[in-house]
Amino acid sequence: MRATSAGLVTLALISAAYAQESNADLVAKLRAAPAHTDRIALLTDNQFVFDFLNPKTGITTGSAGHTVSANSENYPAVIGNGVSMTIGFLGPCGLNTPHTHPRATEINFAVNATLRTGFLAENGARFVFNDVPAGSVTIFPQGVIHFEQNQGCEPAMFVAAFNHEDPGVDQIAQRYFGLPPDVVGATLGGLGVEEVAGLEAKIPNNVAYGTDECLKRCGLTRPDPQLTSQRQPRNDGNVLPAGFSGPLAPSSTPAKAATTPPASTATTGSKAAIKGMRGGKR
Ligand SMILES: *[C@@H]1O[C@H](CO)[C@@H](O)[C@H](O)[C@H]1NC(C)=O
Repeated sequence: MRATSAGLVTLALISAAYAQESNADLVAKLRAAPAHTDRIALLTDNQFVFDFLNPKTGITTGSAGHTVSANSENYPAVIGNGVSMTIGFLGPCGLNTPHTHPRATEINFAVNATLRTGFLAENGARFVFNDVPAGSVTIFPQGVIHFEQNQGCEPAMFVAAFNHEDPGVDQIAQRYFGLPPDVVGATLGGLGVEEVAGLEAKIPNNVAYGTDECLKRCGLTRPDPQLTSQRQPRNDGNVLPAGFSGPLAPSSTPAKAATTPPASTATTGSKAAIKGMRGGKR
Protein backbone atom coordinates (compact mmCIF):
# COMPACT_ATOMS: atom_id res chain seq x y z
CA MET A 1 0.00 0.00 0.00
CA ARG A 2 1.19 3.48 -0.80
CA ALA A 3 1.61 5.90 2.08
CA THR A 4 -0.19 9.16 1.41
CA SER A 5 1.27 12.34 2.84
CA ALA A 6 -1.93 12.83 4.86
CA GLY A 7 -1.39 9.32 6.23
CA LEU A 8 2.19 10.15 7.16
CA VAL A 9 1.12 13.36 8.87
CA THR A 10 -1.50 11.42 10.83
CA LEU A 11 1.11 8.85 11.83
CA ALA A 12 3.51 11.60 12.92
CA LEU A 13 0.77 13.25 15.00
CA ILE A 14 -0.18 9.95 16.59
CA SER A 15 3.42 9.13 17.45
CA ALA A 16 4.00 12.66 18.83
CA ALA A 17 0.87 12.31 20.97
CA TYR A 18 2.02 8.86 22.08
CA ALA A 19 5.49 10.15 22.99
CA GLN A 20 3.91 12.95 25.04
CA GLU A 21 1.54 10.56 26.76
CA SER A 22 4.22 8.00 27.52
CA ASN A 23 6.44 10.78 28.91
CA ALA A 24 3.59 11.93 31.19
CA ASP A 25 3.08 8.28 32.13
CA LEU A 26 6.75 7.89 33.03
CA VAL A 27 6.70 11.13 35.03
CA ALA A 28 3.64 9.92 36.94
CA LYS A 29 5.39 6.61 37.73
CA LEU A 30 8.55 8.42 38.85
CA ARG A 31 6.52 10.71 41.12
CA ALA A 32 4.66 7.75 42.60
CA ALA A 33 7.79 5.65 43.17
CA PRO A 34 8.24 4.92 46.87
CA ALA A 35 12.04 5.20 46.86
CA HIS A 36 14.99 6.56 44.91
CA THR A 37 16.07 3.03 43.94
CA ASP A 38 12.64 2.52 42.33
CA ARG A 39 13.06 5.70 40.28
CA ILE A 40 16.47 4.55 39.05
CA ALA A 41 14.93 1.23 38.06
CA LEU A 42 12.25 3.01 35.98
CA LEU A 43 14.84 4.74 33.77
CA THR A 44 17.21 3.36 31.15
CA ASP A 45 20.87 4.43 31.33
CA ASN A 46 20.55 6.80 28.40
CA GLN A 47 17.50 8.51 29.92
CA PHE A 48 19.98 10.01 32.40
CA VAL A 49 21.66 11.87 29.51
CA PHE A 50 20.28 15.05 27.90
CA ASP A 51 21.89 16.36 24.69
CA PHE A 52 21.77 20.18 24.71
CA LEU A 53 23.46 20.45 21.30
CA ASN A 54 20.84 18.37 19.49
CA PRO A 55 17.65 18.92 21.49
CA LYS A 56 14.17 18.00 20.28
CA THR A 57 12.38 19.81 23.11
CA GLY A 58 12.91 22.64 25.57
CA ILE A 59 14.05 25.12 22.91
CA THR A 60 13.21 28.85 23.11
CA THR A 61 14.24 30.84 20.06
CA GLY A 62 14.59 34.54 19.38
CA SER A 63 16.30 36.57 16.70
CA ALA A 64 19.62 36.73 18.62
CA GLY A 65 19.98 33.20 19.92
CA HIS A 66 18.23 30.40 21.73
CA THR A 67 18.13 28.58 25.03
CA VAL A 68 17.64 24.90 25.72
CA SER A 69 16.09 23.71 28.98
CA ALA A 70 16.15 20.27 30.54
CA ASN A 71 13.66 19.95 33.37
CA SER A 72 10.87 17.69 34.59
CA GLU A 73 8.89 18.34 31.43
CA ASN A 74 11.42 16.85 29.01
CA TYR A 75 14.12 15.23 31.18
CA PRO A 76 12.40 12.88 33.63
CA ALA A 77 15.71 11.86 35.26
CA VAL A 78 15.59 15.10 37.29
CA ILE A 79 12.44 14.01 39.09
CA GLY A 80 13.12 13.52 42.78
CA ASN A 81 16.55 15.12 42.44
CA GLY A 82 15.54 18.79 42.74
CA VAL A 83 17.70 20.16 39.92
CA SER A 84 17.42 21.25 36.29
CA MET A 85 19.49 23.15 33.73
CA THR A 86 19.25 25.66 30.90
CA ILE A 87 22.03 26.28 28.38
CA GLY A 88 22.06 29.68 26.69
CA PHE A 89 23.38 30.08 23.15
CA LEU A 90 23.55 33.85 22.83
CA GLY A 91 24.49 35.40 19.51
CA PRO A 92 26.68 38.54 19.45
CA CYS A 93 25.05 41.04 21.90
CA GLY A 94 22.27 38.48 22.49
CA LEU A 95 20.10 39.38 25.50
CA ASN A 96 18.30 36.80 27.60
CA THR A 97 15.48 39.25 28.29
CA PRO A 98 14.39 40.06 31.87
CA HIS A 99 12.56 37.18 33.50
CA THR A 100 12.04 35.39 36.80
CA HIS A 101 12.15 31.76 37.86
CA PRO A 102 9.26 31.50 40.32
CA ARG A 103 10.44 28.27 41.97
CA ALA A 104 14.25 28.23 41.76
CA THR A 105 17.50 30.00 42.49
CA GLU A 106 19.81 30.04 39.47
CA ILE A 107 23.59 29.76 39.42
CA ASN A 108 24.89 30.85 36.03
CA PHE A 109 28.36 30.04 34.64
CA ALA A 110 29.68 32.23 31.80
CA VAL A 111 31.48 29.71 29.58
CA ASN A 112 33.30 31.74 26.96
CA ALA A 113 32.27 35.39 26.98
CA THR A 114 31.57 38.17 29.45
CA LEU A 115 27.92 38.28 30.47
CA ARG A 116 26.42 41.57 31.59
CA THR A 117 23.90 40.64 34.26
CA GLY A 118 21.58 42.35 36.67
CA PHE A 119 18.92 41.39 39.11
CA LEU A 120 16.21 43.03 41.16
CA ALA A 121 14.73 41.29 44.17
CA GLU A 122 11.51 42.39 45.85
CA ASN A 123 10.40 45.98 46.60
CA GLY A 124 13.04 47.77 48.63
CA ALA A 125 15.99 45.70 47.42
CA ARG A 126 18.82 47.51 45.61
CA PHE A 127 19.72 46.69 42.00
CA VAL A 128 22.67 44.30 41.60
CA PHE A 129 24.69 44.74 38.40
CA ASN A 130 27.75 42.76 37.20
CA ASP A 131 29.91 41.98 34.23
CA VAL A 132 30.64 38.28 34.71
CA PRO A 133 33.80 37.22 32.87
CA ALA A 134 34.17 33.83 31.17
CA GLY A 135 34.98 31.26 33.81
CA SER A 136 32.97 32.94 36.58
CA VAL A 137 29.52 32.31 37.98
CA THR A 138 26.84 34.54 39.35
CA ILE A 139 23.70 33.77 41.28
CA PHE A 140 20.11 34.90 40.81
CA PRO A 141 18.11 34.27 43.98
CA GLN A 142 14.70 32.60 43.59
CA GLY A 143 12.08 34.86 42.04
CA VAL A 144 14.28 37.88 41.20
CA ILE A 145 13.90 39.74 37.90
CA HIS A 146 17.17 39.18 36.02
CA PHE A 147 18.83 39.26 32.60
CA GLU A 148 22.10 38.23 30.96
CA GLN A 149 23.58 39.84 27.87
CA ASN A 150 26.50 38.53 25.81
CA GLN A 151 28.89 41.50 25.81
CA GLY A 152 30.98 39.93 23.06
CA CYS A 153 30.76 40.15 19.27
CA GLU A 154 31.01 36.35 18.93
CA PRO A 155 28.39 33.77 19.92
CA ALA A 156 28.57 32.83 23.61
CA MET A 157 27.37 30.05 25.85
CA PHE A 158 26.20 30.02 29.48
CA VAL A 159 25.23 27.17 31.77
CA ALA A 160 22.40 27.89 34.21
CA ALA A 161 21.66 25.38 36.95
CA PHE A 162 18.52 25.48 39.10
CA ASN A 163 17.68 24.03 42.50
CA HIS A 164 14.27 22.82 41.36
CA GLU A 165 13.23 20.24 38.78
CA ASP A 166 10.55 22.62 37.43
CA PRO A 167 11.93 26.16 37.95
CA GLY A 168 9.44 27.87 35.63
CA VAL A 169 10.18 31.02 33.65
CA ASP A 170 8.17 34.22 33.53
CA GLN A 171 9.29 36.76 30.89
CA ILE A 172 8.63 40.20 32.34
CA ALA A 173 7.82 42.28 29.23
CA GLN A 174 5.90 39.52 27.45
CA ARG A 175 3.76 38.77 30.49
CA TYR A 176 3.35 42.34 31.78
CA PHE A 177 2.07 43.63 28.45
CA GLY A 178 -0.26 40.61 28.32
CA LEU A 179 -2.33 42.03 31.18
CA PRO A 180 -5.51 43.91 30.15
CA PRO A 181 -4.28 46.89 28.06
CA ASP A 182 -6.22 49.46 30.15
CA VAL A 183 -4.63 48.14 33.34
CA VAL A 184 -1.18 48.29 31.71
CA GLY A 185 -1.91 51.85 30.53
CA ALA A 186 -3.08 52.97 33.98
CA THR A 187 -0.01 51.38 35.59
CA LEU A 188 2.15 53.39 33.20
CA GLY A 189 0.57 56.62 34.38
CA GLY A 190 -2.27 56.86 31.89
CA LEU A 191 -1.00 55.62 28.52
CA GLY A 192 -3.82 54.93 26.09
CA VAL A 193 -4.64 51.36 25.13
CA GLU A 194 -3.50 51.98 21.55
CA GLU A 195 -0.09 53.18 22.75
CA VAL A 196 0.07 50.10 24.96
CA ALA A 197 -0.85 47.84 22.03
CA GLY A 198 1.75 49.55 19.84
CA LEU A 199 4.49 48.95 22.43
CA GLU A 200 3.35 45.38 23.01
CA ALA A 201 3.58 44.56 19.31
CA LYS A 202 7.34 45.23 19.35
CA ILE A 203 8.26 42.93 22.24
CA PRO A 204 10.82 40.55 20.77
CA ASN A 205 11.15 36.88 21.44
CA ASN A 206 13.83 35.74 23.80
CA VAL A 207 16.79 35.64 22.95
CA ALA A 208 16.61 39.24 21.64
CA TYR A 209 19.17 41.70 20.28
CA GLY A 210 20.74 43.56 23.22
CA THR A 211 21.74 47.13 24.03
CA ASP A 212 22.56 49.83 21.48
CA GLU A 213 26.02 50.20 23.05
CA CYS A 214 26.85 46.56 22.30
CA LEU A 215 25.31 46.55 18.82
CA LYS A 216 27.28 49.67 17.88
CA ARG A 217 30.54 48.27 19.24
CA CYS A 218 30.02 45.04 17.26
CA GLY A 219 28.84 46.80 14.10
CA LEU A 220 25.41 45.15 14.23
CA THR A 221 21.96 46.47 13.36
CA ARG A 222 18.91 45.50 15.36
CA PRO A 223 16.47 43.80 12.98
CA ASP A 224 13.02 45.40 12.95
CA PRO A 225 10.81 43.56 13.46
CA GLN A 226 12.36 40.77 15.47
CA LEU A 227 10.36 37.61 16.09
CA THR A 228 7.44 38.47 18.41
CA SER A 229 5.55 35.20 18.90
CA GLN A 230 6.23 34.89 22.66
CA ARG A 231 3.80 37.66 23.60
CA GLN A 232 1.03 36.61 25.94
CA PRO A 233 -1.88 35.06 24.03
CA ARG A 234 -5.14 37.03 24.18
CA ASN A 235 -8.53 35.93 25.37
CA ASP A 236 -11.69 37.77 26.44
CA GLY A 237 -10.04 39.07 29.61
CA ASN A 238 -6.98 40.76 28.09
CA VAL A 239 -8.26 41.57 24.61
CA LEU A 240 -6.44 44.26 22.56
CA PRO A 241 -8.30 47.26 21.11
CA ALA A 242 -9.88 46.80 17.68
CA GLY A 243 -7.34 47.07 14.89
CA PHE A 244 -4.52 45.53 16.92
CA SER A 245 -3.84 41.84 16.81
CA GLY A 246 -1.90 39.80 19.29
CA PRO A 247 -1.08 36.12 19.37
CA LEU A 248 -4.30 34.12 19.46
CA ALA A 249 -5.07 32.20 22.60
CA PRO A 250 -4.26 28.58 21.89
CA SER A 251 -6.77 26.03 23.12
CA SER A 252 -4.10 24.33 25.24
CA THR A 253 -1.72 25.83 27.82
CA PRO A 254 -0.78 29.41 26.91
CA ALA A 255 2.47 29.48 28.90
CA LYS A 256 3.96 26.63 26.91
CA ALA A 257 2.92 28.02 23.58
CA ALA A 258 4.45 31.30 24.67
CA THR A 259 7.84 29.97 25.73
CA THR A 260 8.31 27.43 22.95
CA PRO A 261 7.17 28.90 19.66
CA PRO A 262 6.52 26.30 16.98
CA ALA A 263 9.40 25.94 14.52
CA SER A 264 7.18 27.34 11.78
CA THR A 265 7.13 30.76 13.47
CA ALA A 266 10.93 31.03 13.44
CA THR A 267 12.40 32.97 10.55
CA THR A 268 14.90 31.42 8.21
CA GLY A 269 17.42 33.87 9.61
CA SER A 270 17.14 32.62 13.16
CA LYS A 271 17.21 28.99 12.05
CA ALA A 272 20.41 29.70 10.17
CA ALA A 273 21.77 31.48 13.25
CA ILE A 274 21.00 28.46 15.45
CA LYS A 275 22.63 26.14 12.94
CA GLY A 276 25.68 28.39 12.83
CA MET A 277 25.90 28.46 16.60
CA ARG A 278 25.63 24.71 16.90
CA GLY A 279 28.06 24.04 14.08
CA GLY A 280 31.00 21.78 14.80
CA LYS A 281 30.08 21.00 18.38
CA ARG A 282 28.33 17.66 18.02
C1 LIG B 1 31.39 29.65 22.87
O1 LIG B 1 30.88 28.33 22.80
C2 LIG B 1 29.83 28.16 21.87
C3 LIG B 1 29.32 26.74 22.01
O2 LIG B 1 30.34 25.83 21.79
C4 LIG B 1 30.32 28.47 20.49
O3 LIG B 1 29.28 28.35 19.55
C5 LIG B 1 30.88 29.89 20.45
O4 LIG B 1 31.44 30.16 19.19
C6 LIG B 1 31.94 30.06 21.52
N1 LIG B 1 32.33 31.47 21.55
C7 LIG B 1 33.57 31.86 21.76
C8 LIG B 1 33.78 33.34 21.83
O5 LIG B 1 34.51 31.08 21.91
